[in-house]
Amino acid sequence: MAKILVTGGCGYIGSHTIVDLVEHGYECVSVDNYLNSDPSVLEQIASITGKKVKNYPVDLVNKEALKEVFKQEDIYAIIHFAALKAVGESVEKPLLYYRNNIEGQINLLECALQNNIYHFIFSSSCTVYGQSDHLPVTEETPIAKAESPYGYTKQVCERIIEDSIRNKEMNACLLRYFNPAGAHDSLQLGESPINPPMNLIPVITEVGIGSRPELKVFGSDYETRDGSCVRDYIHVMDLANAHTKSLQYLESKNVDFGDAEVFNLGTGEGTTVLEAINSWEEVSGEKLNYSIVDRREGDIPAIFADYSKAKESLGWDPKRGIGDIMKTAWGWEKIRRENIVK
Ligand code: NAD
Ligand code: WQD
Repeated sequence: MAKILVTGGCGYIGSHTIVDLVEHGYECVSVDNYLNSDPSVLEQIASITGKKVKNYPVDLVNKEALKEVFKQEDIYAIIHFAALKAVGESVEKPLLYYRNNIEGQINLLECALQNNIYHFIFSSSCTVYGQSDHLPVTEETPIAKAESPYGYTKQVCERIIEDSIRNKEMNACLLRYFNPAGAHDSLQLGESPINPPMNLIPVITEVGIGSRPELKVFGSDYETRDGSCVRDYIHVMDLANAHTKSLQYLESKNVDFGDAEVFNLGTGEGTTVLEAINSWEEVSGEKLNYSIVDRREGDIPAIFADYSKAKESLGWDPKRGIGDIMKTAWGWEKIRRENIVK
């Protein structure tokens, strides 16, 4: 049976997507060099699905090693997650981000084109929109000048895919994620990064468990309903399922080869930072230690998605809200901490 190559399959969104793919009957193989993950994720995937997924610990930047993977495996579709993703770090180390995210993807696309891969799905980000005058943002919302090297890699990688598949026997989905968070319902899989997380929800759960002293809320004087920033938090399993649906869409007869289609993946609901804290407090029954500090440079006041295109074309509809995100993120954090203490 031909397989799906998942790059970054040991990372946060990649591992949850493998679970959803396997549960929908797909066979997967991963390429992940453990830059921000570790091999124990493969056991967690196996314990949920009953299937052992093989990972090649190969750096996408190493083209010769990548070519070998394509020789070993019969691959017909690629879901490309592998990238560095810390906005602040990308400002400090732009060349690292350009080499890893852009050169890695060029190597992957070259291998894909040489090996007659039909379908390509890419992890893009709502960061490409910057702050839009019109909310919610649609796929037609103009792309803004990138605020960070990380954001620029997403814009460039989207363009590279569009240009390189034109007139080729390959089609693509460019998936713009809003703010992914939460864990698998079984609490056997969740976010386990090597680098300390900087995103709001894992920071909240780490403060809750006591591994960080407090949450700093970046700004309370924005023109939003409570003064804190608004984001569209999307449960990681809803997001994972969007990849399965995108693959089914590309496999259907509705999409021509040579096309790269963009989809927003969010819930359409905005949540403020203070509402997110409140949600954690409701789920945990505890008070969170937080303080309000100055705005964080580069933060936009508000963004949330119009996902009607994904709903119509992919048949995708997110099922979970901020409460489900907090419940699973908090449950996962407690289990993870117990395992670390053991
Ligand atoms: P993650 O860091 O958990 O997963 C990425 C995985 O890719 C890691 O396991 C890492 O080891 C691997 N990797 C990185 N560079 C590699 C390379 N050169 N060769 C092989 N493996 C490599 O991140 P994630 O949150 O799962 O994000 C997945 C994708 O989604 C990324 O492209 C990210 O930019 C994008 N994205 C993430 C978010 C978010 O908030 N998590 C939002 C929008 C878009
Ligand atoms: C959310 C809100 C912060 C931490 C980033 C990337 C974006 C995309 C998603 C990859 C903001 C506030 C946060 C904290 C806080 N990733 N916050 N205290 O900034 O929307 O997007 O992740 O593509 O590209 O930029 O997500 O989780 O960092 O922040 O007050 O300690 O929480 O100011 O309003 P963001 P985030």
